[in-house]
Amino acid sequence: MYKLYLFGYPLHHSYSPKIYEKFFKILKVDASYMLYETKKEELKDRIEKIIKDKDVLGFNLTQPLKEEILKFDIKLDKISNKIQSVNCVLVVDSKLFGFNTDYFGFLKSLKPYKNIIENNESLILGAGGASKSVVLVLKEIGVRKVYIANRTFEKSVKLKEIFYNFIVPVKLCEIEYIIKNVRLIVNTTTVGLSKDESLIEESLLNKDMIIYDLIYNPPRTKLLKDGEKVGAKVKNGFTMLYFQCLENIKIWFGGIL
Ligand code: ATR
Repeated sequence: MYKLYLFGYPLHHSYSPKIYEKFFKILKVDASYMLYETKKEELKDRIEKIIKDKDVLGFNLTQPLKEEILKFDIKLDKISNKIQSVNCVLVVDSKLFGFNTDYFGFLKSLKPYKNIIENNESLILGAGGASKSVVLVLKEIGVRKVYIANRTFEKSVKLKEIFYNFIVPVKLCEIEYIIKNVRLIVNTTTVGLSKDESLIEESLLNKDMIIYDLIYNPPRTKLLKDGEKVGAKVKNGFTMLYFQCLENIKIWFGGIL
């Protein structure tokens, strides 16, 4: 039986095993996808435990490990290398190969909104691994400018090393001053995952916005509920997860099926 894992913390919200179970059935492969709650300091031990097992094809990484994995001996593909963020790892002969399929998932899921957001301004909440995939997609589809608001301001500033003047770092308390012309808001933080809270006040949202939360469980975070109240288009992260899973399957099973 082929084995795949998801490492990250927390994982209680994850639908990934259910989605993969369905794909494995369709593809008629004997494979399992297991959740393995892992904090940063536990990652080394987890990887050492699984990479010698010949049945292991690879694993996914979610918060807070997408950048932590870069400390390991891992060969990166073009996109994960550009944004220094890995959410999919292929294991071959105990060696690690890193990919960023968040990028593909977000890109595919954004297609219906492309016309509205291109040439306009966007606001991204968060400056971690997921945020970088989102910025890259927005840059490639022709968004004019991206504001990055993050709890730790210095982390948003650091993203300038990759995205230069395409991004404008702002403090969370400055959102009210820049939000007027923003057409797309994307939450890439974990705020809203475990508690009914949001980083943006409802009074700052309006009906012309597309409000996208990468969180899919709960399906409506406070940010999305507030968005619905003001008549904005809202979207959760389920479609992105679905497309991301398809891309991961291509990477893990491409040489087998
Ligand atoms: P991922 O790789 O999935 O993007 P991550 O790199 O751990 O996960 O990033 C999590 C993001 O959520 C970060 O932007 C983090 O802000 P900090 O850089 O200040 O840590 C943000 N985040 C997590 N908890 C938060 C909270 N309670 N308030 C505001 N931002 C939070």
